[in-house]
Amino acid sequence: MRKFDVNTVRKDFPLLARQVYGKPLVYFDNGATAQKPQVVIDRINQFYKEENANIHRGVHHLSQVGTDLYEESRKTIQGFLNAKFSEEIIFTKGTTDSINLVAFGYSKMLKPGDEVLITEMEHHSNIVPWQMACEYSGATCKYIPLNEKGELDLSQIDSHFNSNTKVVAVTHVSNSLGTINPIEKLIEKAHKVGARILIDGAQSLQHFKVDVQALDVDFYVFSGHKLFGPTGTGILYGKKEALDQLPPYQGGGDMIKEVKMSGTTYNELPHKFEAGTPNIAGGIALKTAIDYFDSFDIQELQKYEQELLEYAESEIKKLEGIRIIGEADEKVSVLSFVVDGAHHFDVGTLLDKQGIAVRTGHHCTQPVMDYFGINGTVRASFAFYNTKEEIDQFIQALKRALTMLG
Ligand code: ALA
Repeated sequence: MRKFDVNTVRKDFPLLARQVYGKPLVYFDNGATAQKPQVVIDRINQFYKEENANIHRGVHHLSQVGTDLYEESRKTIQGFLNAKFSEEIIFTKGTTDSINLVAFGYSKMLKPGDEVLITEMEHHSNIVPWQMACEYSGATCKYIPLNEKGELDLSQIDSHFNSNTKVVAVTHVSNSLGTINPIEKLIEKAHKVGARILIDGAQSLQHFKVDVQALDVDFYVFSGHKLFGPTGTGILYGKKEALDQLPPYQGGGDMIKEVKMSGTTYNELPHKFEAGTPNIAGGIALKTAIDYFDSFDIQELQKYEQELLEYAESEIKKLEGIRIIGEADEKVSVLSFVVDGAHHFDVGTLLDKQGIAVRTGHHCTQPVMDYFGINGTVRASFAFYNTKEEIDQFIQALKRALTMLG
């Protein structure tokens, strides 16, 4: 296990050394995408320089090398999530793609009278595909509400689950608030009424360990690019029997057993859900990203990120006219806030000019913004390569922005 030292770790990420507008970059937009360590960049280069070929198709040497590397990556991801079988790991383009794959399947399986249960806290990518599935099937979409701390309001939890509930989809961690949801409880409730449950892990795996077997979750999805890997890579974990029940999502090469003019039979898992040539270099480099991340004690990283969050929250609370949005008891290192009398976009722009990268807007969670009666926030999201000194720079930059905004 590698000893965590932030100054050493920062050297692994070349982009962190760059400047913007002549100022050192302070990258606090990790919730949108994480930076990549050199080993990941090198892995992608190596594939295209030395190994490039299509996979699962050729008898020639390079094709077999590529296939082996891609399948090794699947095994690494299986181990990372503690999935029982490697065929339970489906490569996708990202979290959105993974959710659409499952929701499309349900759009074919749901009937009028069935219910899909999601929450008011979801990213649009865990709302819209389910609304579409309901629109196409005649099922009804229901929502677990929020409370003022930005947690799920579970005071009436049993009222949301009934025998019509067929599928539940909940984010593990809110991208706009940082809230960690008690998914164990929701998994148990879903299973009690015979529903399947999908957990959106886009904002969780970069902060803490997840064991899909211990959770007994049916589907768990995440994006590679938020986990220090390449964009255009994502994973759908599904229990074998849950994936077997789902119809295929896209048709094409690799996902078939036999194609006749009279019809097609579909391939086994995982290929049934992997039509077409995938992001091969990305899939292989995702293994490198996970190996890199997993070389640390994740609890040590988590503790450090919590220190960053506590420090940032305590410093920002000293400023006048700031309201933190999302004060859940259990949070990852995400700090969302609004400034009295100022538009989030203006605050973000003034921070950017001082080298501070944050995200502004509704963060693809408009129902969350509606709940708080706002149209957006400024969001600083920290990774384990960020530092307290960067938080000091951010607070100084924010003070200057507040002065300019008057
Ligand atoms: N879902 C990503 C975010 O929260 C893009 O910024």
